[in-house]
Amino acid sequence: MSPIDPVVDREVKRRRTFAIISHPDAGKTTLTEKLLLYGGMLEVAGAIRGRKSQRAVTSDWMELERQRGISVSSTVLTFDFDDCRVNLLDTPGHHDFSEDTYRTLVASDCAVMVIDLAKGVETQTEKLFRVCALRKIPVITFVNKVDRPGQQTLDVLNDVETKLGIEAVPQNWPLGIGGEFCGVVDFDTFTAHVFDDKQGERRVVARSMPLSEVNDERMRPEMLQQTRDEMELIHTAGTTFDEARFRRGEITPVFFGSALTNFGVEHFLRGFLKLCPTPSDRNSDVGPVQVNRSDFAGFVFKIQANLDPRHRDRVAFLRICAGKFEREMEVLHPRTGKRIKLKRAHKVFGQDRETMDEAFPGDIIGLVNPGEFHLGDTICIGEPVQFESLPQFSPEHFAVLRCRDTSRRKQFTRGLEQLIEEGAIQTFVDPHAMQRESILGAVGALQFDVVRFRLESEYNTPTDITSMPFSLARWIVQSTPEDLREARVPYGAKVVRDQLGCLAMLFASPWDANYFEREHPKIKLSSIRETV
Ligand code: G4P
Repeated sequence: MSPIDPVVDREVKRRRTFAIISHPDAGKTTLTEKLLLYGGMLEVAGAIRGRKSQRAVTSDWMELERQRGISVSSTVLTFDFDDCRVNLLDTPGHHDFSEDTYRTLVASDCAVMVIDLAKGVETQTEKLFRVCALRKIPVITFVNKVDRPGQQTLDVLNDVETKLGIEAVPQNWPLGIGGEFCGVVDFDTFTAHVFDDKQGERRVVARSMPLSEVNDERMRPEMLQQTRDEMELIHTAGTTFDEARFRRGEITPVFFGSALTNFGVEHFLRGFLKLCPTPSDRNSDVGPVQVNRSDFAGFVFKIQANLDPRHRDRVAFLRICAGKFEREMEVLHPRTGKRIKLKRAHKVFGQDRETMDEAFPGDIIGLVNPGEFHLGDTICIGEPVQFESLPQFSPEHFAVLRCRDTSRRKQFTRGLEQLIEEGAIQTFVDPHAMQRESILGAVGALQFDVVRFRLESEYNTPTDITSMPFSLARWIVQSTPEDLREARVPYGAKVVRDQLGCLAMLFASPWDANYFEREHPKIKLSSIRETV
């Protein structure tokens, strides 16, 4: 065990690094905006609502920057609250949903799941939740839009439990729903916080009192009685909060509120800061790497090209996992064995960059990367380590891309290789096909547009695209050559190799994949590939 570095240890204890997972429209942007308001990064929230239809296909935060004329990073938002340093990582959603969304979760210590009270758990939330469950990332739930008529609060808890298989443990309970929503009650003390007005744009003022003393004209007496009854019921029959179970991902603490009216957001933020785990030791090929040692270590979880069209470069985003980062430090890049001086490390703010002098575990730094870093690479000081690989998730969209101009075939191949390295796209090849064309796979359909756009703009190679009738990939994790030779591959499915040479199968539907698995118990398939 390395000696504890007291400066690193102090900084680790005040770091909270998390991502928000949600289905489009649940309120991720609105909640983010309100958190920025409390973090002192915005004077007044609001004003970007109402222009949704005009939003460009880009990060919500970039849009936020554009609309508000402020500088927030498109990858991480950092603010201080109550002596905590909060790093909120952007999980691209909506149209730009991609593998980056998943990888960002792997770089987070906790996820906040925003659910619309009326809609409950929706599909995209469920997908993202599965990644958290896989990586044992603790999840805190924020049930949003309580100011709108929705489901009953007990029903939404039930929805979380049945769809996600995780126990929901309320931390507060709303006083009224829809037009009657006027406060939240702490579950452990039964203290009610009644909000004064519906300003929404600013911090709202709350009067605190025991639940038994609440008497508000905004709420009917029977609604008040219902709140008391529900809280009593959960207190006697519900699950109690257990820190260890939360950290193992078995239970999710639940907060209720309304991001739009700002009711309950501050209570959520305070509760979140208490619950969100601080950065901890991460697994590597040589065992857990101690977070509060002085030797620096981190891994690349995202590579973004052309953040600044004037520079035409790529930025590798690195999550610090141990020790202290200092500008100009020389690090080891274990994959290549090279020593690299980190001269150009930045906080990246959309188009702008600010040089970073020091950073600690939980922080994200952007390294201007002329091609030396790959996704999943570790860089470190001291003993060489390699952090656990980034998982590769099954694509849901498949297509064949053809170079329109055969004389540009070389550039096409080089460009595609580069984009694969960045993790912008996955590729599969049918080893038995006459024409060895690459089948591209993407988690979000927009990834194809991005790849085509970049091949054209950066490599001057226009392409044509033909979509393929597959909807999922399964990696073959266990089989013998005989099993595979004798396997009855369903009509429309294909055995392929991915860009790393791993065997996989492409299926037209989940039904086909399940059928194949049932019929071939000796062949084990996985929806995730765990090597980089
Ligand atoms: P997203 O990033 O998860 O996609 O959601 P976003 O915050 O953009 O919110 C989606 C819609 O839901 C927006 O309305 C927003 O104003 C509304 N909303 C968010 N939180 C709350 C809440 O607590 N209560 C209520 N009543 N509404 C909420 P929109 O009309 O679709 O967009 P806009 O025209 O207001 O921009």
